Amino acid sequence: MMKTPIGIFDSGIGGTSIFKEIHTLLPNENIIYLADSRNAPYGNKSQEEILQLCIKNTELLIRKNCKLIVVACNTATTNAITYLRTNYEVPFIGIEPAIKPAALNTQTKTIGILATKGTLSSHLFHKTTDLYASGIKVIEQVGEGIVPLIENAMLDSIEMETLLDRYLEPMLAQNIDFLVLGCTHYPYLIPMLSKMLPEHVKIIDSGLAVAKQTETVLASNKLLITSNNKASIYLYSNGNIQVLNTILKNQFDTAYLDF
Ligand code: DGL
Repeated sequence: MMKTPIGIFDSGIGGTSIFKEIHTLLPNENIIYLADSRNAPYGNKSQEEILQLCIKNTELLIRKNCKLIVVACNTATTNAITYLRTNYEVPFIGIEPAIKPAALNTQTKTIGILATKGTLSSHLFHKTTDLYASGIKVIEQVGEGIVPLIENAMLDSIEMETLLDRYLEPMLAQNIDFLVLGCTHYPYLIPMLSKMLPEHVKIIDSGLAVAKQTETVLASNKLLITSNNKASIYLYSNGNIQVLNTILKNQFDTAYLDF
C-alpha cells in the first residue's frame, strides 16, 4: 500500500511547480502527474465544467492506484475540492492562494493577488479572504492570458512582459508590499517578476506549504514510504509533451497519454 504513488493533477504544466516541491521534500515517494493541457486553461470555464474535468482526472489517478491526490491547481481546488472529498475515499490535498501569510505580514496593509477568474470568483476564495484579510486591502487581478502563454512555451516572451506590466501597474500604484501568486503556473514567472517588481515587494506562493501538508497527511494516514525507495516518477500530458519536457528541463520521465 505504502509504495503506491501520490497522484497529482493540474489543468496543465503549472502544477509541476508543486510536483517539484513534493519530490524535493519526499524524494522516496513514487509520483504520477497528470497535465490536462488539452483542456487548459480551466480558469475561464464554468464551475460545472471544472468539476467534470476534476472528476475525470481523479478517477484516472484512482485507477492508477494512487494513495493520495494533490489537486495542484488553485482553480480546481477552489471549485471542486469539496465535491471530491465528499465523493471519493482517497485523501485530497488542495492548494489555495497564500492570502494568510501575506495579510499577516504586510506593512502597507495592501496586498496584491494574481489568479485566474475561476479562483477569484469562487466561494472558497472569498471565504478565505474574509477570514484572514479583514482590514487589509486586497487588490485582485485576473491573470487573463498568462496560462495560455506558458502552455505554449512563451514563458520568456515580450507578450508575457507586456501582460505582467499591465497587471502589476494598478497594484504598485496602490502600494502593495506582497504579491500572492494564486495559480500554480505562476511560480515559473518569478524570475521575470523579480526583475519587474521593486525590491520591497515580496512574492509569495503556496508550493512549499502544499508539500508539507502532503507529508503531514501521508504520515497521519500511515501512507508515507519510510524506507529508502528509488522513486518512480511519471508525468503524463494530453497536450504538447515537448512543452512539459522543457519546463522540467528534461529531468523526468514523461509520456503522452490520451485522457
Ligand atoms: N494552474 C491553475 C491554477 O492554479 C489553473 C490555470 C488554468 O488552467 O486556468 O489555477
